[in-house]
Order: sequence, then C-alpha cells, then structure tokens
Amino acid sequence: MEKQVYILGIESSCDDTSASVICNAKVLSNVVANQEIHSKYGGVVPELASRAHQQNIVPVVQQAIEQANISKEDLSAIAFTRGPGLMGSLLVGTSFAKSLALGLQVPLIDVNHMQAHILSHFIEEKDCKMPPFPFICLTISGGHTQIVKVTNHFEMEVLGETIDDAVGEAFDKSAKILGLKYPGGPLIDKHAKLGNPKAFQFTKPKVGDLDFSFSGLKTGILYFIQKQVRINPNFIEENLNDICASIQYTIVEILMDKLKNAVKQTGIKHIAIAGGVSANSEIRARLQLAEKHFGWTTYVPKFEYTTDNAAMIAITGYLKYLNNYYSDVSVTAKARLKVSENS
Ligand code: KG4
Ligand code: ZN
Repeated sequence: MEKQVYILGIESSCDDTSASVICNAKVLSNVVANQEIHSKYGGVVPELASRAHQQNIVPVVQQAIEQANISKEDLSAIAFTRGPGLMGSLLVGTSFAKSLALGLQVPLIDVNHMQAHILSHFIEEKDCKMPPFPFICLTISGGHTQIVKVTNHFEMEVLGETIDDAVGEAFDKSAKILGLKYPGGPLIDKHAKLGNPKAFQFTKPKVGDLDFSFSGLKTGILYFIQKQVRINPNFIEENLNDICASIQYTIVEILMDKLKNAVKQTGIKHIAIAGGVSANSEIRARLQLAEKHFGWTTYVPKFEYTTDNAAMIAITGYLKYLNNYYSDVSVTAKARLKVSENS
C-alpha cells in the first residue's frame, strides 16, 4: 500500500488566512478565513492584514486538522508560503509554521506562492485532469499576470508578464470606478453575465507579444465613465451590466490574444490557468471554445483552488516532500520571489 503522507499547508501571503491538510495528493480539508475588514478601504491594508492573520491562524489551523479527521501528531511535514506577498502577512505564517514544525519535530517546507498557484493542478480531484509537461500556465491574480512555461514541477520560466498592473487589479480598479466593493472581480463577473459585451468599446494596449499592460485600459475606462456621467449622472446605474460585460470582454480578449501568441511561439497546446482571476466565467468559457477551435487542451482548477488557498501550498509541499526539498529553520519570508526561484 502507498505510504500515507499528511501535509499541513499554511497560506498567509495577502489577505486570506488559510490552512489545509492533504493526504498524498488528496485534499482532506481547506479552510479559508477571508478578511472582511479590507472591503471598506477598497483594497488590502497591509497592517490590518497581518493583525488579522495573527488572530486567525490558530483557529484556522485547528479547524483544518479537525476537518481532516487526524491529530497533529499524524502530520508528516509543515508547508508554508515563503513569498511573494506582504511581508507582515508572510511573517505570521512563516513563524507559525516554523514553531509547529519544531514542536512536532517534522520537516519544514517553504513554498513559492506563484509556483503553488500553478501546482494546484496536481491536486487529485474527481473530473479534473492534470496537465502533462511541458505546459503553458497563465497565472492571473490580484498581484500577478504571467505566462509561464512549466517544464516540470519545479522548473518554470516566465515567457511574459505585466509591465504595470496585474489583471486582478484591472478588474478591481474598474470595479472601484463603478462604485463596486473590493474585491471587484467577482462582482464584475456577476454583472457581466447579464450584459452585452459589445455595448462599449475599450482600446486594447500595445505591448510586446507575451507581455501585458493594464494601466492604460484602467485610465481609458475612468475617462469614459467620467465623460458619460457628466452627460447623464445615472449612466453607471442604468448601464452597469453592459459596462461590466464590455470591460470583462476586453480584458479576456487581451488574455486570449497573449495565449495565442504563446502557443504560436512555443508550439505547446496544453494550456492551464491559475490564480484568483481564473475563477472568471468568461475566461473559462473562452478556453472551452479554444479547445474546439484551436485544438488546445485546457486545464482549469476547481473553483476553490483558484483564489488564495492553502490546499495549493499543501500540494506543493507534498511534491517537495517526495523530493526531500526541506527548509532549514533559519529560512526567512521573502516579499519578492520569482516563479523560477526554488529555495
Ligand atoms: O489569487 P488571488 O486570490 O490573490 C492574489 O494572489 O492576488 O486573486 C485575487 C484576485 C482579485 O483581484 C479578484 O478580484 C480576482 O482575483 N477575482 C476575479 C474573480 N474572482 C476573483 N476576477 C475576475 N472574475 C472573477 N470571478
Ligand atoms: Zn495568489
């Protein structure tokens, strides 16, 4: 019988405190505590985030272990997010993981958050296929927008990335202009379902073949809305669904254009998406169409593994555990960490 490896994953890089227990590649629990506090500020406030992590971390870890129906002595290793992310937030998870690993006398495994988003595809789930190597992953989140060539679990190369805002920021900042709450991405998605994507046209940015730029689009949207509101003060309320659908259509067009360029350049037709924005219904629909029209095979993570979660940290920890990639207790959190960096 296969050896049962239990890994506890801890994620605290931004504004969600999460803990997950997996047994080999299967998720037993994945607890996420969202920090509501940031919503009224229209974005994540780092100081408040680290304080909330401190409050959440013990109950969240306890709940993850209870839901997995194991005791902490059964754990084979502790995996945690080392970076990239907000320093104060990362430090909470890092110090907690270190102490727990020391206390239980089990290996400590540091995880690169960007690799973890991609490796969430290796969680064993019914109806979810795993991508074969090499594949292309479009990582789209609130902090990052990257096209990555994934050669194996730990060999990743950035082919293109954003030169300014991340795609999640483009969603969130557009939502803010429309008076929608943070995080705005899911709300734009919701309203877009009821609107006409061709109602309004926004200019797509001109940057390198595989690079992205979203700050010009955001400014374009801002000027357009300001102009329309001067003419009709009720413009946003009267056209919210159409505006959201048009913004979402433009953003997804940009993402699809870049993926087509990546396929052309690499010849790789196995295409995965990861990160918070991969929850978006339009990008999911467009990828399904691409299977039919361009012969791509596409891989979309289960909804709960798209936004920040500890299951992706735990699966990365498991893959590292199998290779004996352990960390020393002197390991420190790192606010900046490239997807290609293993430590
Ligand atoms: O990966 P994630 O949870 O955190 C980061 O590491 O950044 O991504 C959060 C981002 C936010 O910008 C949020 O608005 C966006 O993902 N997001 C979405 C959707 N769900 C979450 N954007 C568009 N459509 C969605 N359905
Ligand atoms: Zn993330």
